[in-house]
Amino acid sequence: MKHLLSAADLDRDEAMAILDTAARMHAIQTREVKKLPPLRGRTIVNLFFEDSTRTRSSFEIAGKWLSADVINVSAKGSSVSKGESLRDTALTGEAMGVDALVVRPHASGAVNRLAEWVDCHVVNAGDGTHEHPTQALLAAYTLRERLGTFADRHVVIVGDITHSRVARSNVLLLATLGARVTLVAPPTLMPSGVASWPCTTSWDLDETLSGKSHGDVDAVMMLRVQRERMSGGADGSGVGYFPSAREYAIGYGLSPARLALLPEHAPVLHPGPMNRGLEISSMAADGDRSLVLDQVRAGVAVRMAVLYHVVAGADDIAEPIPAEVTA
Ligand code: NCD
Repeated sequence: MKHLLSAADLDRDEAMAILDTAARMHAIQTREVKKLPPLRGRTIVNLFFEDSTRTRSSFEIAGKWLSADVINVSAKGSSVSKGESLRDTALTGEAMGVDALVVRPHASGAVNRLAEWVDCHVVNAGDGTHEHPTQALLAAYTLRERLGTFADRHVVIVGDITHSRVARSNVLLLATLGARVTLVAPPTLMPSGVASWPCTTSWDLDETLSGKSHGDVDAVMMLRVQRERMSGGADGSGVGYFPSAREYAIGYGLSPARLALLPEHAPVLHPGPMNRGLEISSMAADGDRSLVLDQVRAGVAVRMAVLYHVVAGADDIAEPIPAEVTA
């Protein structure tokens, strides 16, 4: 696999191989010495044009634990703030001999252009409101750990679907893996092209969580309300999308009462960062069903797996990493 740009790049066997490689990588997280050799001598640049805590640091840790040299470049503090284009910044990195770019650009689809411009590997770390394939892989990893299988499992994804690259990648990947997905959002936060996505949709969260409208639920994933992408700015107003934060929480927040509608086995996921009190209550975020921190843990292992398959150039990506490499 030369690049990972979209969750749709992966067929079922390839996605399962990445999850199996991630399971082997996960084991090193509890070791005292967390270093494996596969990327020794390789250089990875994390090129982030949007803010990030989890994604950037977990890509950095993942690269370092695989023995790569990892450099972080963010828009602030680089020549991007002097007006340099994404293309020039990427070509500059490549000219220094970089093996892979892990990129988070502002613009949806920019990673696909970038992959045409450079010869090195490109991994999409979230492009605009388009896709975030490693986030979908880490959610799939976490769900497989908890539910055992994807076959006939029903995952409900709730919230600001319009601005969410996480939702799109999750729908594509979960469908490839054999799960059923229902998206729930107010009409203003449901993207117009959603009818062509491999999922069902609803505007009624209570009906969906209780299993009355779309069948029994096996997991619920709450999404952050991305106020910084809404007209009205980052002032918390959500202008044009919903009347007030309070009304959003009443209609679409995972409150303690809504948590009680879920079957007992169904876990709660959230990609983070969370808006507590808006899309998710603290009881849901911190309770027994919450897999939020398991997702963060899985994020390192999954990104190690992706870097291994992409950068170490495992010829047959449908084969997980050999056990002796991680022994
Ligand atoms: C997501 C992202 O950046 O798209 N977060 C993440 O990668 N951990 C979701 C979000 O920002 O809401």
